[in-house]
Amino acid sequence: MFRVGKEEIEQVTKSIESKDLFKLNNGCRQCYNVEEKLCNITGSKYSIFMTSGQAALTTALVALGIGPGDQVIVPGYTYIATAMAVVAAGAMPVIAEIDDTLTISPEDIEAKITKYTKAIIPVHIIGLPCDMDKICAIAKKHNLYVIEDACQADGGSYKGKRLGSIGDAGAFSFNYFKIITSGEGGAMLTNSREVFERSLIYHDSSAVAFFGNQMEEFTTEGFCGTEFRANELCGAMVNAQLDKLEGILSNLRETKKYITDGIKDVIKLAPSNDPEGDCSINVCVQFDSSEKASDFAEKCKEFGAFVVINSDRHVYSNWQPILEKKGALNPLMDPFKMEANKDAQIEYTKDMCPKTLDILSKTVSFCLKCDMTKEQCDKIIDTMRKAF
Ligand SMILES: Cc1ncc(COP(=O)(O)O)c(C=O)c1O
Repeated sequence: MFRVGKEEIEQVTKSIESKDLFKLNNGCRQCYNVEEKLCNITGSKYSIFMTSGQAALTTALVALGIGPGDQVIVPGYTYIATAMAVVAAGAMPVIAEIDDTLTISPEDIEAKITKYTKAIIPVHIIGLPCDMDKICAIAKKHNLYVIEDACQADGGSYKGKRLGSIGDAGAFSFNYFKIITSGEGGAMLTNSREVFERSLIYHDSSAVAFFGNQMEEFTTEGFCGTEFRANELCGAMVNAQLDKLEGILSNLRETKKYITDGIKDVIKLAPSNDPEGDCSINVCVQFDSSEKASDFAEKCKEFGAFVVINSDRHVYSNWQPILEKKGALNPLMDPFKMEANKDAQIEYTKDMCPKTLDILSKTVSFCLKCDMTKEQCDKIIDTMRKAF
Protein backbone atom coordinates (compact mmCIF):
# COMPACT_ATOMS: atom_id res chain seq x y z
CA MET A 1 0.00 0.00 0.00
CA PHE A 2 1.30 3.43 -0.94
CA ARG A 3 1.11 6.71 0.91
CA VAL A 4 -1.76 6.76 3.34
CA GLY A 5 -1.76 9.50 5.96
CA LYS A 6 -3.59 12.33 7.62
CA GLU A 7 -5.66 13.26 4.56
CA GLU A 8 -7.29 9.80 4.55
CA ILE A 9 -7.77 9.93 8.34
CA GLU A 10 -9.46 13.33 8.02
CA GLN A 11 -11.86 12.18 5.31
CA VAL A 12 -12.73 8.92 7.06
CA THR A 13 -13.22 10.79 10.37
CA LYS A 14 -15.47 13.32 8.65
CA SER A 15 -17.66 10.51 7.37
CA ILE A 16 -17.78 8.67 10.69
CA GLU A 17 -18.67 11.89 12.53
CA SER A 18 -21.42 12.58 10.02
CA LYS A 19 -22.91 9.19 11.07
CA ASP A 20 -23.86 8.76 7.45
CA LEU A 21 -22.00 5.96 5.73
CA PHE A 22 -24.57 5.27 3.03
CA LYS A 23 -23.63 6.50 -0.44
CA LEU A 24 -27.14 7.42 -1.52
CA ASN A 25 -27.89 9.64 1.47
CA ASN A 26 -25.71 12.40 0.08
CA GLY A 27 -24.08 12.89 3.51
CA CYS A 28 -20.42 13.74 2.88
CA ARG A 29 -20.76 12.71 -0.79
CA GLN A 30 -17.51 10.73 -0.58
CA CYS A 31 -18.52 8.15 -3.23
CA TYR A 32 -20.04 10.80 -5.49
CA ASN A 33 -16.89 12.90 -5.18
CA VAL A 34 -14.78 9.89 -6.16
CA GLU A 35 -16.93 9.41 -9.27
CA GLU A 36 -16.66 13.10 -10.17
CA LYS A 37 -12.89 13.07 -9.69
CA LEU A 38 -12.51 9.90 -11.78
CA CYS A 39 -14.43 11.55 -14.63
CA ASN A 40 -12.28 14.69 -14.33
CA ILE A 41 -9.03 12.74 -14.28
CA THR A 42 -9.85 10.31 -17.09
CA GLY A 43 -12.14 12.44 -19.25
CA SER A 44 -14.78 9.68 -19.15
CA LYS A 45 -18.38 10.87 -19.10
CA TYR A 46 -19.55 8.39 -16.46
CA SER A 47 -17.98 6.49 -13.63
CA ILE A 48 -19.38 4.28 -10.89
CA PHE A 49 -17.37 3.64 -7.74
CA MET A 50 -18.03 0.12 -6.45
CA THR A 51 -16.79 -2.72 -4.31
CA SER A 52 -13.98 -4.15 -6.45
CA GLY A 53 -12.22 -4.32 -9.78
CA GLN A 54 -13.79 -7.66 -10.62
CA ALA A 55 -17.21 -6.18 -9.81
CA ALA A 56 -16.44 -3.33 -12.22
CA LEU A 57 -15.38 -5.73 -15.00
CA THR A 58 -18.45 -7.96 -14.52
CA THR A 59 -20.72 -4.92 -14.48
CA ALA A 60 -19.18 -3.57 -17.70
CA LEU A 61 -19.59 -6.94 -19.46
CA VAL A 62 -23.21 -7.29 -18.37
CA ALA A 63 -23.98 -3.68 -19.30
CA LEU A 64 -22.58 -4.23 -22.78
CA GLY A 65 -25.02 -7.11 -23.19
CA ILE A 66 -22.37 -9.84 -23.11
CA GLY A 67 -23.53 -13.23 -21.83
CA PRO A 68 -24.10 -16.90 -22.72
CA GLY A 69 -23.14 -17.74 -26.30
CA ASP A 70 -20.42 -15.06 -26.40
CA GLN A 71 -16.64 -15.30 -26.28
CA VAL A 72 -14.42 -12.63 -24.74
CA ILE A 73 -10.69 -12.53 -25.45
CA VAL A 74 -8.41 -12.05 -22.42
CA PRO A 75 -4.62 -12.24 -22.16
CA GLY A 76 -2.80 -15.24 -20.68
CA TYR A 77 -0.94 -12.92 -18.31
CA THR A 78 -3.44 -11.22 -16.02
CA TYR A 79 -4.92 -11.89 -12.62
CA ILE A 80 -7.54 -14.67 -12.80
CA ALA A 81 -10.26 -12.12 -11.92
CA THR A 82 -10.26 -10.86 -15.54
CA ALA A 83 -11.30 -14.29 -16.82
CA MET A 84 -13.62 -14.90 -13.87
CA ALA A 85 -15.52 -11.70 -14.67
CA VAL A 86 -16.23 -13.11 -18.14
CA VAL A 87 -17.58 -16.33 -16.60
CA ALA A 88 -19.60 -14.31 -14.06
CA ALA A 89 -21.30 -12.61 -17.00
CA GLY A 90 -22.12 -16.08 -18.43
CA ALA A 91 -19.67 -15.85 -21.36
CA MET A 92 -16.61 -17.88 -22.36
CA PRO A 93 -13.09 -16.51 -21.83
CA VAL A 94 -10.70 -17.14 -24.73
CA ILE A 95 -7.06 -16.86 -23.73
CA ALA A 96 -4.68 -14.99 -26.03
CA GLU A 97 -0.90 -14.73 -26.07
CA ILE A 98 1.02 -11.73 -24.80
CA ASP A 99 4.00 -10.22 -26.62
CA ASP A 100 7.32 -8.87 -25.32
CA THR A 101 5.56 -5.81 -23.86
CA LEU A 102 3.90 -8.32 -21.45
CA THR A 103 0.49 -7.11 -22.66
CA ILE A 104 -1.97 -8.87 -24.97
CA SER A 105 -0.68 -9.53 -28.49
CA PRO A 106 -2.83 -7.75 -31.11
CA GLU A 107 -1.79 -10.39 -33.66
CA ASP A 108 -3.04 -13.19 -31.43
CA ILE A 109 -6.29 -11.33 -30.71
CA GLU A 110 -6.97 -11.40 -34.45
CA ALA A 111 -6.05 -15.07 -34.66
CA LYS A 112 -8.49 -15.93 -31.85
CA ILE A 113 -11.54 -14.10 -33.20
CA THR A 114 -14.48 -16.38 -34.08
CA LYS A 115 -18.11 -15.76 -34.94
CA TYR A 116 -18.83 -15.92 -31.18
CA THR A 117 -16.37 -13.19 -30.17
CA LYS A 118 -18.09 -10.12 -28.69
CA ALA A 119 -15.35 -8.32 -26.80
CA ILE A 120 -11.67 -7.98 -26.02
CA ILE A 121 -10.33 -7.23 -22.55
CA PRO A 122 -6.87 -5.68 -22.90
CA VAL A 123 -5.23 -5.69 -19.48
CA HIS A 124 -2.77 -2.92 -18.60
CA ILE A 125 -0.88 -5.35 -16.44
CA ILE A 126 1.56 -3.99 -13.81
CA GLY A 127 0.71 -0.53 -15.09
CA LEU A 128 1.97 -1.22 -18.64
CA PRO A 129 -0.25 0.24 -21.36
CA CYS A 130 -1.52 -2.16 -24.05
CA ASP A 131 -1.21 -1.31 -27.74
CA MET A 132 -4.59 0.42 -27.78
CA ASP A 133 -4.31 1.75 -31.35
CA LYS A 134 -3.98 -1.73 -32.79
CA ILE A 135 -6.52 -3.26 -30.40
CA CYS A 136 -9.15 -0.60 -31.11
CA ALA A 137 -8.56 -0.96 -34.87
CA ILE A 138 -9.09 -4.74 -34.64
CA ALA A 139 -12.21 -4.20 -32.52
CA LYS A 140 -13.59 -1.73 -35.05
CA LYS A 141 -12.87 -4.04 -37.98
CA HIS A 142 -14.64 -7.00 -36.31
CA ASN A 143 -17.33 -5.00 -34.51
CA LEU A 144 -16.19 -5.97 -31.00
CA TYR A 145 -16.36 -4.16 -27.69
CA VAL A 146 -13.18 -3.18 -25.84
CA ILE A 147 -13.26 -3.32 -22.03
CA GLU A 148 -10.00 -2.10 -20.53
CA ASP A 149 -8.85 -3.86 -17.40
CA ALA A 150 -6.91 -1.00 -15.80
CA CYS A 151 -7.10 -2.61 -12.34
CA GLN A 152 -3.30 -2.52 -12.02
CA ALA A 153 -2.98 0.81 -13.82
CA ASP A 154 -4.94 3.48 -11.94
CA GLY A 155 -3.94 6.81 -13.52
CA GLY A 156 -1.80 5.43 -16.36
CA SER A 157 -2.18 6.58 -19.95
CA TYR A 158 -1.66 5.63 -23.58
CA LYS A 159 -0.65 8.34 -26.05
CA GLY A 160 -2.05 11.00 -23.72
CA LYS A 161 -5.39 9.27 -23.09
CA ARG A 162 -6.03 7.84 -19.63
CA LEU A 163 -6.18 4.07 -19.39
CA GLY A 164 -9.72 2.88 -18.77
CA SER A 165 -11.21 5.72 -20.81
CA ILE A 166 -10.21 4.54 -24.30
CA GLY A 167 -12.45 1.51 -24.88
CA ASP A 168 -16.22 1.08 -24.50
CA ALA A 169 -15.73 0.63 -20.76
CA GLY A 170 -12.86 0.44 -18.29
CA ALA A 171 -12.25 -0.93 -14.81
CA PHE A 172 -10.04 0.20 -11.91
CA SER A 173 -9.24 -1.63 -8.69
CA PHE A 174 -8.46 0.00 -5.36
CA ASN A 175 -7.67 -3.17 -3.46
CA TYR A 176 -4.80 -3.22 -0.97
CA PHE A 177 -2.16 -4.04 -3.59
CA LYS A 178 -3.01 -1.29 -6.06
CA ILE A 179 -1.52 2.14 -6.83
CA ILE A 180 -4.15 3.82 -4.67
CA THR A 181 -6.32 1.93 -2.24
CA SER A 182 -9.31 1.77 0.05
CA GLY A 183 -8.46 -1.74 1.18
CA GLU A 184 -10.99 -3.05 -1.33
CA GLY A 185 -12.76 -1.06 -4.03
CA GLY A 186 -13.11 -0.52 -7.75
CA ALA A 187 -14.70 1.65 -10.40
CA MET A 188 -16.07 1.31 -13.89
CA LEU A 189 -15.85 4.01 -16.55
CA THR A 190 -17.77 4.54 -19.77
CA ASN A 191 -18.77 7.25 -22.21
CA SER A 192 -22.06 5.56 -23.07
CA ARG A 193 -25.21 6.70 -21.31
CA GLU A 194 -26.81 3.32 -22.00
CA VAL A 195 -23.89 1.37 -20.51
CA PHE A 196 -23.90 3.70 -17.51
CA GLU A 197 -27.63 3.24 -16.85
CA ARG A 198 -27.39 -0.54 -17.17
CA SER A 199 -24.32 -0.58 -14.92
CA LEU A 200 -26.00 1.50 -12.27
CA ILE A 201 -28.99 -0.85 -12.25
CA TYR A 202 -26.85 -4.02 -12.27
CA HIS A 203 -24.40 -2.98 -9.57
CA ASP A 204 -26.95 -1.61 -7.09
CA SER A 205 -30.20 -3.36 -6.17
CA SER A 206 -31.40 -0.15 -4.54
CA ALA A 207 -31.44 1.59 -7.91
CA VAL A 208 -34.56 -0.34 -8.84
CA ALA A 209 -35.94 -0.70 -5.32
CA PHE A 210 -35.77 1.74 -2.43
CA PHE A 211 -34.17 4.68 -4.11
CA GLY A 212 -36.31 5.05 -7.19
CA ASN A 213 -35.22 8.61 -7.88
CA GLN A 214 -31.81 7.31 -9.06
CA MET A 215 -33.55 6.17 -12.25
CA GLU A 216 -35.76 9.20 -12.73
CA GLU A 217 -34.17 10.19 -16.01
CA PHE A 218 -33.30 6.66 -17.19
CA THR A 219 -34.57 5.21 -20.42
CA THR A 220 -33.35 1.73 -19.36
CA GLU A 221 -35.97 -0.37 -17.57
CA GLY A 222 -35.05 -1.98 -14.26
CA PHE A 223 -33.83 -5.58 -14.10
CA CYS A 224 -32.44 -7.82 -11.35
CA GLY A 225 -28.80 -7.15 -10.68
CA THR A 226 -26.51 -7.66 -7.76
CA GLU A 227 -25.05 -5.55 -4.97
CA PHE A 228 -21.64 -4.02 -5.63
CA ARG A 229 -22.49 -0.59 -4.17
CA ALA A 230 -19.59 1.12 -2.39
CA ASN A 231 -19.79 2.65 1.09
CA GLU A 232 -18.75 6.10 2.29
CA LEU A 233 -15.72 4.88 4.29
CA CYS A 234 -14.10 3.42 1.18
CA GLY A 235 -15.24 6.54 -0.67
CA ALA A 236 -13.48 8.71 1.94
CA MET A 237 -10.24 6.80 1.42
CA VAL A 238 -10.27 6.89 -2.38
CA ASN A 239 -11.35 10.53 -2.32
CA ALA A 240 -8.17 11.42 -0.43
CA GLN A 241 -6.06 8.95 -2.42
CA LEU A 242 -7.13 10.38 -5.79
CA ASP A 243 -5.66 13.75 -4.79
CA LYS A 244 -2.31 11.99 -4.33
CA LEU A 245 -2.44 9.92 -7.52
CA GLU A 246 -0.52 12.29 -9.80
CA GLY A 247 2.22 12.77 -7.18
CA ILE A 248 2.53 9.01 -6.64
CA LEU A 249 2.76 8.35 -10.39
CA SER A 250 5.26 11.12 -10.92
CA ASN A 251 7.52 9.77 -8.13
CA LEU A 252 7.23 6.21 -9.45
CA ARG A 253 8.11 7.38 -12.96
CA GLU A 254 11.16 9.29 -11.70
CA THR A 255 12.29 6.22 -9.74
CA LYS A 256 11.84 3.89 -12.72
CA LYS A 257 13.72 6.27 -15.02
CA TYR A 258 16.57 6.59 -12.55
CA ILE A 259 16.92 2.81 -12.16
CA THR A 260 16.50 1.96 -15.86
CA ASP A 261 18.96 4.70 -16.87
CA GLY A 262 21.43 3.00 -14.55
CA ILE A 263 21.10 -0.45 -16.14
CA LYS A 264 19.91 -0.06 -19.72
CA ASP A 265 23.43 -0.14 -21.23
CA VAL A 266 23.87 -3.72 -19.99
CA ILE A 267 20.41 -5.24 -19.48
CA LYS A 268 17.53 -5.53 -21.98
CA LEU A 269 14.41 -3.82 -20.69
CA ALA A 270 10.98 -5.08 -21.75
CA PRO A 271 9.71 -2.87 -24.61
CA SER A 272 6.78 -0.57 -23.86
CA ASN A 273 3.73 0.53 -25.89
CA ASP A 274 4.05 3.94 -24.25
CA PRO A 275 6.87 4.58 -21.74
CA GLU A 276 5.40 7.99 -20.83
CA GLY A 277 2.07 6.46 -19.84
CA ASP A 278 3.54 3.49 -17.93
CA CYS A 279 2.53 3.70 -14.27
CA SER A 280 6.08 2.56 -13.46
CA ILE A 281 5.16 0.22 -10.64
CA ASN A 282 7.57 -2.47 -11.88
CA VAL A 283 10.85 -2.76 -13.73
CA CYS A 284 10.95 -5.70 -16.18
CA VAL A 285 14.11 -7.05 -17.77
CA GLN A 286 14.33 -9.78 -20.39
CA PHE A 287 16.83 -12.57 -21.10
CA ASP A 288 17.33 -14.99 -23.95
CA SER A 289 16.88 -18.05 -21.73
CA SER A 290 14.83 -19.00 -18.68
CA GLU A 291 18.03 -20.26 -16.96
CA LYS A 292 19.65 -16.82 -17.23
CA ALA A 293 16.43 -15.20 -15.95
CA SER A 294 16.26 -17.55 -12.92
CA ASP A 295 19.91 -17.02 -12.13
CA PHE A 296 19.51 -13.23 -12.34
CA ALA A 297 16.38 -13.26 -10.14
CA GLU A 298 18.20 -15.35 -7.54
CA LYS A 299 21.08 -12.85 -7.43
CA CYS A 300 18.62 -9.95 -7.09
CA LYS A 301 16.18 -11.50 -4.62
CA GLU A 302 17.20 -9.09 -1.85
CA PHE A 303 15.05 -6.39 -3.50
CA GLY A 304 12.24 -8.77 -4.46
CA ALA A 305 13.16 -9.67 -8.06
CA PHE A 306 11.23 -12.66 -9.42
CA VAL A 307 10.81 -14.49 -12.71
CA VAL A 308 7.36 -13.43 -13.89
CA ILE A 309 6.28 -17.00 -14.71
CA ASN A 310 6.19 -17.47 -10.90
CA SER A 311 3.35 -14.96 -10.51
CA ASP A 312 0.86 -17.64 -9.43
CA ARG A 313 -2.74 -16.78 -10.45
CA HIS A 314 -1.51 -14.04 -12.77
CA VAL A 315 -0.47 -16.70 -15.29
CA TYR A 316 -3.28 -18.55 -17.13
CA SER A 317 -1.67 -21.98 -16.54
CA ASN A 318 -2.53 -21.54 -12.83
CA TRP A 319 -6.19 -20.61 -13.42
CA GLN A 320 -7.51 -23.97 -12.11
CA PRO A 321 -11.24 -23.09 -11.99
CA ILE A 322 -11.08 -21.87 -15.59
CA LEU A 323 -8.88 -24.71 -16.90
CA GLU A 324 -11.15 -27.24 -15.16
CA LYS A 325 -14.30 -25.40 -16.30
CA LYS A 326 -15.76 -24.97 -12.83
CA GLY A 327 -17.93 -21.97 -13.60
CA ALA A 328 -20.40 -22.08 -10.68
CA LEU A 329 -21.41 -24.15 -7.68
CA ASN A 330 -24.86 -24.90 -9.05
CA PRO A 331 -24.44 -26.79 -12.36
CA LEU A 332 -27.49 -25.08 -13.85
CA MET A 333 -25.84 -21.71 -13.26
CA ASP A 334 -22.50 -22.84 -14.71
CA PRO A 335 -21.73 -21.05 -17.99
CA PHE A 336 -19.41 -23.92 -19.00
CA LYS A 337 -22.41 -26.28 -18.86
CA MET A 338 -24.97 -24.00 -20.48
CA GLU A 339 -26.54 -25.07 -23.75
CA ALA A 340 -26.08 -21.52 -25.09
CA ASN A 341 -22.31 -21.90 -24.69
CA LYS A 342 -22.11 -25.35 -26.30
CA ASP A 343 -20.47 -24.08 -29.49
CA ALA A 344 -18.72 -21.05 -27.98
CA GLN A 345 -16.64 -23.23 -25.62
CA ILE A 346 -12.97 -23.87 -26.08
CA GLU A 347 -10.71 -26.48 -24.52
CA TYR A 348 -8.15 -25.10 -22.08
CA THR A 349 -4.73 -26.65 -21.59
CA LYS A 350 -1.79 -25.50 -19.49
CA ASP A 351 0.38 -25.11 -22.60
CA MET A 352 -2.15 -23.47 -24.90
CA CYS A 353 -0.23 -20.15 -25.01
CA PRO A 354 3.42 -21.27 -25.37
CA LYS A 355 4.68 -17.82 -26.35
CA THR A 356 3.25 -16.34 -23.14
CA LEU A 357 4.92 -19.02 -21.00
CA ASP A 358 8.19 -18.52 -22.86
CA ILE A 359 8.21 -14.71 -22.44
CA LEU A 360 7.20 -14.88 -18.77
CA SER A 361 9.91 -17.45 -18.01
CA LYS A 362 12.55 -15.16 -19.54
CA THR A 363 11.35 -11.97 -17.84
CA VAL A 364 12.48 -10.82 -14.40
CA SER A 365 10.53 -8.12 -12.61
CA PHE A 366 10.56 -6.26 -9.32
CA CYS A 367 8.18 -3.75 -7.74
CA LEU A 368 8.95 -0.11 -7.11
CA LYS A 369 7.64 2.04 -4.28
CA CYS A 370 6.86 5.71 -4.64
CA ASP A 371 9.01 6.76 -1.67
CA MET A 372 12.28 5.04 -2.57
CA THR A 373 15.46 6.91 -1.71
CA LYS A 374 18.37 7.54 -4.10
CA GLU A 375 20.48 5.21 -1.92
CA GLN A 376 17.98 2.37 -2.30
CA CYS A 377 17.88 2.91 -6.07
CA ASP A 378 21.69 3.01 -6.32
CA LYS A 379 21.91 -0.25 -4.39
CA ILE A 380 19.45 -1.90 -6.79
CA ILE A 381 21.40 -0.63 -9.82
CA ASP A 382 24.64 -1.88 -8.32
CA THR A 383 23.22 -5.33 -7.49
CA MET A 384 21.70 -5.68 -10.95
CA ARG A 385 24.89 -4.67 -12.75
CA LYS A 386 26.92 -7.12 -10.68
CA ALA A 387 24.33 -9.88 -11.24
CA PHE A 388 24.46 -9.28 -14.97
C1 LIG B 1 -5.45 -7.25 -13.67
C2 LIG B 1 -6.48 -7.36 -12.60
N1 LIG B 1 -7.78 -7.42 -12.96
C3 LIG B 1 -8.76 -7.49 -12.05
C4 LIG B 1 -8.49 -7.50 -10.70
C5 LIG B 1 -9.60 -7.59 -9.72
O1 LIG B 1 -9.59 -6.51 -8.83
P1 LIG B 1 -10.25 -6.68 -7.38
O2 LIG B 1 -9.33 -7.48 -6.53
O3 LIG B 1 -10.42 -5.27 -6.90
O4 LIG B 1 -11.55 -7.36 -7.62
C6 LIG B 1 -7.16 -7.46 -10.28
C7 LIG B 1 -6.84 -7.49 -8.84
O5 LIG B 1 -5.82 -7.88 -8.35
C8 LIG B 1 -6.13 -7.38 -11.24
O6 LIG B 1 -4.85 -7.34 -10.89
